[in-house]
Amino acid sequence: MKPSLYLGVSRAMRGEAQASPWHLPAHHLVTHGVVVGMTGSGKTGLVTVLVEEALRASIPVIAIDIKGDLPNLLLAFPNFEMEAVRPWIPQHEHADETDADALKLAADREAGLEAFGIGEPEIVHYAARTHVRVITPGADAGELLHVLSALERRSARWTEDPDGARASLSAAISLVLRLLGRDPDPARSREHVLLSVIAEQRLANGQPADLAALMPEIVEPPFQSIGALTVNDFMPKRARKDLASAVNNLLASPTFASWRQGATLDVGAWMQPVNGRTPATIISVAHLDDDERALVLGVVLEEISPGCAACPTRNASARSSCSTRPMASCRPTRPRRRPSDRSWRS
Ligand SMILES: Nc1ncnc2c1ncn2[C@@H]1O[C@H](COP(=O)(O)OP(=O)(O)O)[C@@H](O)[C@H]1O
Ligand SMILES: [Mg+2]
Repeated sequence: MKPSLYLGVSRAMRGEAQASPWHLPAHHLVTHGVVVGMTGSGKTGLVTVLVEEALRASIPVIAIDIKGDLPNLLLAFPNFEMEAVRPWIPQHEHADETDADALKLAADREAGLEAFGIGEPEIVHYAARTHVRVITPGADAGELLHVLSALERRSARWTEDPDGARASLSAAISLVLRLLGRDPDPARSREHVLLSVIAEQRLANGQPADLAALMPEIVEPPFQSIGALTVNDFMPKRARKDLASAVNNLLASPTFASWRQGATLDVGAWMQPVNGRTPATIISVAHLDDDERALVLGVVLEEISPGCAACPTRNASARSSCSTRPMASCRPTRPRRRPSDRSWRS
């Protein structure tokens, strides 16, 4: 049987009171979808339920979260006890006031889910069968992300999908060049071409292509020509030394170090079950400024798009209005802790 996502109940637009459970066949989501509505209309709630239902149906999820709402999926408590929610709500000066809030939140959650036929067995099952991880590039509030992993860590994609691996490498090199304040355009930038040729040759030979390993080869490339030009005609040695020295400055920057450690950007692995649990990988970029966000998303989407390109497309037509059921995960009024402010460049 094809999986379906239980999103709530539907009512006819004519306003008849009759409501019936609304299940969205999962295969209707194989193309793009948009949730539209004014602020407070329930877009975030609907998307959160969508993610939970996908996980319930054993469908892996990768979510890019630009507002910081989705880490709440971690608050998927397997019971309705007030102790579970208490640490996550605003704390009053008097403990019993906090207790009262926690009690109410836990009871609301239980009643809300019960109205949609979701009880303790379902939330226990959900908690046991899902694995949610939150990745926060450049900040250690969640897992760090190695944004240059396509460059610095050799992946099996070089044998399985060389074009895809090349595209990811190109995005990672563009990221490095942007950080250096240089032209990141693969079609125009000589520096991009030089770095790509060096890195690809190393990776293809099974050698590491981390920035430190590239530096000597930027100055003295292990080949004579690039295209129809000699290396020196393509880029004079002086310009190559200048590039190597800029890469070195980047490497020496303590801030930059946090962008080069943590989870490998490996979308294939993110789609695999973790100890039999269905994975959801949330890449939260809410803490980044606009420039940083654009850079990180460029690299992340470059990794994700080859996977998505393989999906079949099919049109789904929306026929019902939808009111979503409450979320199984708990949603406190504000995040308990925000990733610390830090800047990209030192
Ligand atoms: N289906 C729903 N039924 C009842 N309340 C809801 C529903 N969806 C959302 N809410 C509540 O409405 C408020 C706004 O929802 P939210 O999803 O944050 O809106 P948006 O993202 O569109 O701004 C939240 O307090 C949420 O708990
Ligand atoms: Mg919202």
